[in-house]
Amino acid sequence: MTISTSTITLKQESIPKVALNFMNNTHFEELEIVEKIGEIVNTLMINNTQIDIQDSLSKILNRWLEHTIKHFEREDKLMKEIGFPAYAIHKKEHQIALERMKKIINTWVKEQDISLIHDYIFSFWPTWFTQHVNTMDMMTAKFAVSTGYINH
Ligand SMILES: [Fe+2]
Ligand SMILES: [Fe+2]
Repeated sequence: MTISTSTITLKQESIPKVALNFMNNTHFEELEIVEKIGEIVNTLMINNTQIDIQDSLSKILNRWLEHTIKHFEREDKLMKEIGFPAYAIHKKEHQIALERMKKIINTWVKEQDISLIHDYIFSFWPTWFTQHVNTMDMMTAKFAVSTGYINH
């Protein structure tokens, strides 16, 4: 069997910046969590028999999930406050992404299939995150600023 490890390609400087700092800060926090997850995943890709490391992964995945729930709630609230026209579309992307994340984490907890998390964290998620920030978040922040929303 070929042992493969990967590295997270998303860094602060490589993700799109939106017009509101609080959103950027949330995105940066998320990158830090995902980078830590990536390191643990790589360790388990080499040897997935270490129960304590499997537990650490489950814990940090749950921390990521909680962070994501707050992240999306905050943006949904903002969209409502400013009357963002594409509210429903942006909110829907959040819902779909959250459902997928929950499903992946639940499967991990049940089956400990590290390759599933590996694909999600190093392939699906970076693509999704970049695309989402570049479109929905970008437009939302720009619209907020145009309505006079204070950037803090
Ligand atoms: Fe966001
Ligand atoms: Fe968003």
